[in-house]
Amino acid sequence: MKTLLLDIRAKAEDALKNANDDAALEAVRVGYLGKKGELTAVLRGMGGLSPEERPIVGALANEVRTYIENALAEKKKELEEKKLEAKLLAEKLDVTAPGENFEIGVRHPLEKIETEMSDIFRSMGFEIAEGPEVEFDLFNFQKLNIPENHPARDTQDTFYITDNILLRSQTSPVQARVMMDTQPPIRIISPGRVYRADEVDATHSPVFHQLEGLVVDKGITMGDLRGMLETFAKQMFGENTKIRFRPHHFPFTEPSAEVDVSCFVCGGKGCRVCKGEGWIEILGAGMVHPNVLRGCGIDPEVYSGFAFGMGIERIVMIKYGIDDMRLLYENDLRFLKQF
Ligand code: DAH
Repeated sequence: MKTLLLDIRAKAEDALKNANDDAALEAVRVGYLGKKGELTAVLRGMGGLSPEERPIVGALANEVRTYIENALAEKKKELEEKKLEAKLLAEKLDVTAPGENFEIGVRHPLEKIETEMSDIFRSMGFEIAEGPEVEFDLFNFQKLNIPENHPARDTQDTFYITDNILLRSQTSPVQARVMMDTQPPIRIISPGRVYRADEVDATHSPVFHQLEGLVVDKGITMGDLRGMLETFAKQMFGENTKIRFRPHHFPFTEPSAEVDVSCFVCGGKGCRVCKGEGWIEILGAGMVHPNVLRGCGIDPEVYSGFAFGMGIERIVMIKYGIDDMRLLYENDLRFLKQF
């Protein structure tokens, strides 16, 4: 019995020496101390010993058990220390390694100018209104006094989705939506995307951006329109900028005008940017047509208003001297980083 126990102890010791992970340790534990383990079997067989032998063998068996338990615990600790050491080695921090370079982006010139424009109008008390890009013919055309046979209504110019749903060809439908929703005083701008069936070239794109403006109140005159646009032009292009109105036609305003700013590069003398004209066209505007007011539920006998609309790409191109609109959509970082 005694030799058997000493033998077990020696075998367990050997097995532990070769156990190099948690699973192997557990196998040793189960193999000697588990329910079916070798040591457990010896303890069970002690019933067959004489009363003199029993305490001696029992004491030795306990000693062997304690010995194996301690050896297991020690080996376990040793393995954990090794594991930690390996982990620390693997995670070694090299403070001399070069840092990771990540680039900070820039704002797109279109977004930058749109924000600049919106900020100028907001400082004059305008609020920002939004409308859908997929729009009803009703708002894009009918409510804006645009007659059935107007060229803009041709499928050559406008993307139709169904007979009465289209991709808005201008931001002007937001005017109609706001007037139908609210009674004056109204003072809104609405920047956003518009769509036209145009081929891509240096000055055209089937998707571009406009900024619409609308003011309706009692006693609004063309003088108010002029003063407001002049303030905008000076803040956008410089204190010395002048504006001029040229008569024009838009179905939804009467009278209507195209508005030019004096060239901020040459001051009006004529140069490459203004193509020798001294003036640069930037927008369309006018007094809201009584038919439009009436059609949107506002009494033209009580209220009057002005409206204007401008292309944001155009303002960006003028301001930064960009001569090809495609550059704004190609996302070439060498171009975009200049702004
Ligand atoms: N919607 C016009 C266009 O796309 C621009 C415009 C002109 C808007 C006159 C206006 C306006 O509000 O009064 O060409």
